[in-house]
Parts: sequence; structure tokens; C-alpha cells
Amino acid sequence: MRRSVTKGLIIGGIGLAALVGVDFSASAANEPEKIIAYRKAVMTAMGDHLDAMSSFAKGRTTSKAGFVGWTEAIIAGSKEIPSVFPKGTEKGGDTIADPAIWQKTDEFNKIVVQVVAAGEKLLAAVKGSDNQVLTNEIENMSRACAICHEPFRVNR
Ligand code: HEC
Repeated sequence: MRRSVTKGLIIGGIGLAALVGVDFSASAANEPEKIIAYRKAVMTAMGDHLDAMSSFAKGRTTSKAGFVGWTEAIIAGSKEIPSVFPKGTEKGGDTIADPAIWQKTDEFNKIVVQVVAAGEKLLAAVKGSDNQVLTNEIENMSRACAICHEPFRVNR
């Protein structure tokens, strides 16, 4: 079981790494400004879903009615990360993405794999019945996002 999970992650990681290497900068349909705007929308969507679930972790609600869908949205958004950071989108729009993303692409992609894994653990907790485990996994998810934001977002 453990073995196959790890294997899946590694295979996923290779797929993601391959995507980041793709250079869309020459394509008019995918000009940087549009891609940057879209990636921020993907991030915002994940942030909003996670915010809603943080209400549970903070004791503001006991309802988990929307959590399966929101967690699946976070997983889907996380898997989308490599394709919304193609080469050529370090500038050309309103972005605070650190250019280091395109120098340390392996490191960036490794974090993506970790975030997807955190999402899968969160989903298991959402489907489970232990509220403390769920609270922990919601907090873990936030930390997983921050692991990328700290090195790869420029403060301005
Ligand atoms: C592998 C790196 C990485 C991961 C993982 C990641 N982010 Fe981001 N995030 C970024 C970068 C880089 C930016 C800046 C994008 C830009 O300005 O072009 C960003 C921007 C954002 C923004 C601001 C969007 C805006 O409109 O400016 C939010 C909100 C956000 N991320 C939420 C999240 C959440 C929630 C997660 C976890 C579920 C997450 N991110 C995971 C790299 C990441």
C-alpha cells in the first residue's frame, strides 16, 4: 500500500516536471498576461475553498457539507499548478511569482507533489469521522501551500 502510493507520487511528479518545461511563450493564444491572470484565479479559487474549511478548524462551524467538493477542487487546482507556470510567464503581467521558479523547477515541482499529497490526506480526513484529524489536515494543507509561497513569491 505504502509502496504504491509513493510510486504514484513519483510518476505524478515526472508528469508535472515535464509540463513545467513546456514553453508556451511563443503562442499568441497563451500570451503571458492571460496565463498569469488565470494562474492567479486558480490560486484564489484554492485559497477561498481552504478559507471556508479553515472555519471548521477555527470552530466557527461544525458543517462539513461542502468539504468533499472543495477538497477535490484544491487537489485539481494543485495538479494544475505546473501548467500555469510555463516558461515565459515570469513577466508580462501583474505577477509576484519569483523568477527562481524557472531556475529551481525541480524543487518547485516537488512541492507541487507534496501539496497534492496533502490534498489527498485532507480528502481522506474529510471522508472520515475524526474531527481532530480533520482539523489537523486542514492546518497541514495551509502549511503545504506556504511551503511554496515562502520561497517562490516575491514580497512587494
Ligand atoms: C508550487 C508553488 C505553489 C503552491 C503549491 C501553491 N501556490 Fe499559491 N501561489 C504561488 C505563486 C508563485 C503565486 C504568485 C502568482 C503570481 O503572482 O503570478 C501564488 C499566489 C497565490 C495567491 C494569490 C493570488 C492572486 O490573485 O494574487 C493565493 C490566494 C494562493 N496562491 C493560494 C494558494 C493555496 C490556497 C495553495 C494551497 C492549496 C497554494 N496557493 C499553493 C505558488 C504556489
